[in-house]
Amino acid sequence: MKFYTLKNDQKLPAIGLGTWKSEPGKVGEAVIEAIKSGYRHIDCAAVYGNEAEVGEALKTAFAQGLVAREDLWITSKLWNNAHESDKVIPALQKTLKDLQLDYLDLYLIHWPVAFKADVGFASKADEFLTPEEAPIIETWKKMEEAYNKGFVKSIGVSNFSLKKLKSLLVDATLPPEVNQVELHPLLHQEELLEFCNNNSIILTGYSPLGSGDRSQEMKKDDEPNLLENEVISKIAKAHDCSPAQVLISWHLSRGTSVIPKSTNPKRIKENLDSYKIELTEKDLQQIKTLDKGYRYVDATFFEVPGGPYKNIYDE
Ligand code: A2P
Repeated sequence: MKFYTLKNDQKLPAIGLGTWKSEPGKVGEAVIEAIKSGYRHIDCAAVYGNEAEVGEALKTAFAQGLVAREDLWITSKLWNNAHESDKVIPALQKTLKDLQLDYLDLYLIHWPVAFKADVGFASKADEFLTPEEAPIIETWKKMEEAYNKGFVKSIGVSNFSLKKLKSLLVDATLPPEVNQVELHPLLHQEELLEFCNNNSIILTGYSPLGSGDRSQEMKKDDEPNLLENEVISKIAKAHDCSPAQVLISWHLSRGTSVIPKSTNPKRIKENLDSYKIELTEKDLQQIKTLDKGYRYVDATFFEVPGGPYKNIYDE
């Protein structure tokens, strides 16, 4: 198992189990299976709507002695409707309660986008808070407070562009340890990776397998299928492994952590075993040619007419 050592000496297991889109009734079992298979990193978020079931599974895992709390890395994320200063710690406490934990290993600001407190998912201009009404630095100060109080061992961000990350670094007292963004062979984000490497920030990649189980309304008709990509399939054949394992192994070769989602026991195990695959220089060169800046999660849905967020990716 590969770990990345963060600036604060915490050790982040490179491969974690993703729980976005993991269905109620299935996610708990997936967490148990993952822990039994050797996963020591589970990626959660309040907005996934399944933290209470993950919490039950964790309780079972600890009670059965499958793993000790200190050997497990649990990440969660602050949802967009809790960015205001008085909402951050209560949101974290709700997540801790749901997960039945007394601390998180990592807490991330899920998006650099703020909603009004009573809005689950903003789709109209007046459901957002402007960056002036909920400045990211004020939210970050509360993340720092959560760290200083020992509620979380590390803090970071998610979906932050290079520009937003740089700006946060200027204002922050504690720099973020992690930025979790979409990453896969169709979206290398080289500039962001280089900046993170130079600033000792670990990038974690979500949608590493192309997130084919997103809801229909989140999908484009003509979206490419990463798991059936010709270059990836050829490399998989040469290594006698699955395309998913090539996709996951690619992250490890770039020094990024990765959180493939699965609720299927066989695939959960297969995904963790990807650390055994060593891609060659030639494989990596071929994968380089696939980069076309393609996003499966197109968050321009936050850029509503008349709303305060105009350029979510700063591209
Ligand atoms: P399942 O949960 O049934 O295994 P992402 O991590 O990019 O969001 O992708 C998750 C999707 O990929 C889910 O549909 C998941 O299905 C599927 N998946 C996970 N692992 C594998 C694998 N090893 N091979 C093929 N599909 C996989």
